[in-house]
Amino acid sequence: MTLHCQPERVEALVAQWRAESAEPICAYVYDLQALQQHVRWMRAALPDGCELYYAAKANPEAPVLQTVAPWVDGFEAASGGELRWLHEQQPAHPLLFGGPGKLDSELALAAALPDCTLHVESLGELARLASIADALGKPVPIFLRMNIAVPGIGDTRLMMGGKPTPFGMDEADLPQAVELLRRHPRLRLEGFHFHLMSHQRNAAMQLELVRAYLDIANRWKAAYGLDFAVVNAGGGFGVDYAEPAASFDWLQFCAGLRDVLQQHAHGLRLRFEPGRYVSVACGWYVMEVIDIKRSHGEYFAMARGGTHHFRTPPAQGHDHPFRILRGHRAPLIEHERVTLVGQLCTPKDVLARAQPVDALAPGDCLLFSLAGAYAWNISHQNFLMHPAPRMAFLEAAPVAQDTLAVRVA
Ligand SMILES: Cc1ncc(COP(=O)(O)O)c(C=O)c1O
Repeated sequence: MTLHCQPERVEALVAQWRAESAEPICAYVYDLQALQQHVRWMRAALPDGCELYYAAKANPEAPVLQTVAPWVDGFEAASGGELRWLHEQQPAHPLLFGGPGKLDSELALAAALPDCTLHVESLGELARLASIADALGKPVPIFLRMNIAVPGIGDTRLMMGGKPTPFGMDEADLPQAVELLRRHPRLRLEGFHFHLMSHQRNAAMQLELVRAYLDIANRWKAAYGLDFAVVNAGGGFGVDYAEPAASFDWLQFCAGLRDVLQQHAHGLRLRFEPGRYVSVACGWYVMEVIDIKRSHGEYFAMARGGTHHFRTPPAQGHDHPFRILRGHRAPLIEHERVTLVGQLCTPKDVLARAQPVDALAPGDCLLFSLAGAYAWNISHQNFLMHPAPRMAFLEAAPVAQDTLAVRVA
């Protein structure tokens, strides 16, 4: 099993809402129990010598952060806003702060926080941070984010490196960066950061990448006489929305990591900062069907809500997986193909096109799975001034202190 995604608790909640009100349902439901199970499973599989951070950009909801917190070493922020939010929500956890185009005020905020490591994206940013660290008069831990080309590792749909992008520095910038670090000892180089791609579904290829990161970091260590302890190998573990079982094979990856560490780490620790793979399976977007009609020979089901709440389908350019929770009305259509749309006045408001359904009627609910990452928080929520969806968090079991002690050890 790669993702923990069971519908029963969500269906029970939707049934309860239906019994309470006739108002059509539109909601996000987050199964925190499933999230806890999944992040614990991810953590348990990781070999010694590895750290796990959660990239909050995937889903920064407070209960999500709270649920993953016991099982991660910290959180990654990609903006000043996320940094403030994470510091407020999880003050006891270490933070990482990456992303291009950081403001001086954001660099200063991160540098002043008690446990925040900055991922520096360019020579210009490094110079600005050096002045800020000197003025602050305290050591500032940093990683240099590098954009390297690794031959033979293939492309995914979302490449952040290995070609011209705004992310990270070229290897050719490294001599200048090292020189600047020597002149500004308050900047403490703790490691190198790499995140070349997201949507990686090939565990063997990802192992090759990690091996390449360790090799090049060790080469730089020797060539420049650097002293650092960690390589951050980013996130990007991919999810197959059409066939969840074909998603990134975390267990295969973790098993392979043991060998990679043994042969290539030479004392370096590995850090990962996934987002999507952690939280995607815990979230469901629920829409109640309002109307069904035929248009020029094709069926459409109009449901409450739409892509202004759930932009994932158009963002990914896919038909989002769903299940139907039937209501009480006799089917209006049976064994037909139907396009599932929302309430927006644009033909782009499509969540899944020409999907085969056994039976569908107004009052049925569409439960879109894998809606826990890059979903609500990437959506254009104010378009048309529709109300926000209801938000529900199905509680996780409390975590026993002795389990936590085992994890921390
Ligand atoms: C630097 C960095 N780290 C981590 C992530 C998280 O990626 P994912 O959600 O695909 O795991 C991203 C995503 O854009 C990123 O840019």
